[in-house]
Amino acid sequence: MKHGSATQAIHGGRDAQTRSVTYPIYQTAAFAVESSDGYAHINDYQAEEFFYSRYDNPTLRQVSEKLARLEHAEDCLLFASGMTAITTTLLGLLSSGDTLAAARTLYGGTLTFLRDYAPRFGINVVLLDEEQLYNVDQHVPQAKVVYFETPVNPRCDCISIARTVAAAKRIGALVVKDNTFASPINQTPLDFGVDLVIHSATKYIGGHSDVTAGAVMGPISLMKTIFSARKVFGGIPSPHDAFLLDRSLKTLELRVAQHNTSALALAQCFEADAKVQQVYYPGLPSSASHSIAREQMRGYGGMLCIALENLQAAKTFCDSLTIGLNVAHLGTAETLVSIPVLTSHSMLNADELRQAGLTPGMVRISVGLENTDDLLADFQQALARL
Ligand SMILES: Cc1ncc(COP(=O)(O)O)c(C=O)c1O
Repeated sequence: MKHGSATQAIHGGRDAQTRSVTYPIYQTAAFAVESSDGYAHINDYQAEEFFYSRYDNPTLRQVSEKLARLEHAEDCLLFASGMTAITTTLLGLLSSGDTLAAARTLYGGTLTFLRDYAPRFGINVVLLDEEQLYNVDQHVPQAKVVYFETPVNPRCDCISIARTVAAAKRIGALVVKDNTFASPINQTPLDFGVDLVIHSATKYIGGHSDVTAGAVMGPISLMKTIFSARKVFGGIPSPHDAFLLDRSLKTLELRVAQHNTSALALAQCFEADAKVQQVYYPGLPSSASHSIAREQMRGYGGMLCIALENLQAAKTFCDSLTIGLNVAHLGTAETLVSIPVLTSHSMLNADELRQAGLTPGMVRISVGLENTDDLLADFQQALARL
């Protein structure tokens, strides 16, 4: 019988020798071979023996196997951060002269890479809005890779995975999707034909604000390319960070269920308050993203965004919270708020902000695991100060 995702995340690989309940941290940079012949496999993907921790390490591999199962993937590779996962994947897949078609609305760090660094490698980047993505075959027929996020940081707008994949497949382009905001519990894009899924594991997968990591999941045929690139770029997490991720995976499903519940309660509360000009949460039936979210998400997530009158209102609101912390981060046990124009999207110019639909009065909220009633009371008292 196939086990559910919580069971799989709790009971991953055991250390066969000791049967320790938590998987050991193999805190080593390298491994000795029994005989020189062992080096015949040093460049193999998923070699039976381990050689060097920048290539692979048992603690990393057992977390990877669990994460692959959660994302319905054949395999997963861990990275030192979400950004390293993104940059290594794109530089691994694309060569000079290739074209990348990417959504215009992305995490600011990803956009900065596409704007300032990808062109230095001769990669031609074309940014598209949602409707253009659904017709990427017509707008960018030469695209080798199509890249997008959904829900999108910070407004949680949803993009149809099925429609994007269908258009990309018409031109044989690979589809790479950042699934950080949803987590593998709420959404598994590979089920919709996406080729590779990327996570900032610093967010929901880690969940405790104590580890910076990234992950890429997909079929072995593509993971081999990502593995070769990771070996060269070298962005692997430490064995200790992999251990922290393993600890976190054991509660991922429980945590995400609570994030989903509290976020919906807060979204409904904001919707009823006249001081909030707009609530962006795909779980609200009034949301423009609701029908797409229903098609592709099992839960609507712990992220939401609200639009207040102006930047000053956003600052007063954030500075009045007593539980929520003003932090440029998300996906953790603690409720976190941030003003995107000052933080995640501060590198965008006025034109880029307008195109991404971001205004200075927006506040991004990462709903944590505190008691829902306490959060409702805290946000209500902060709104009352406006
Ligand atoms: C959607 C998304 N992708 C990627 C990243 C980058 O992840 P990291 O900070 O782990 O490098 C972030 C960071 O906030 C993010 O929000």
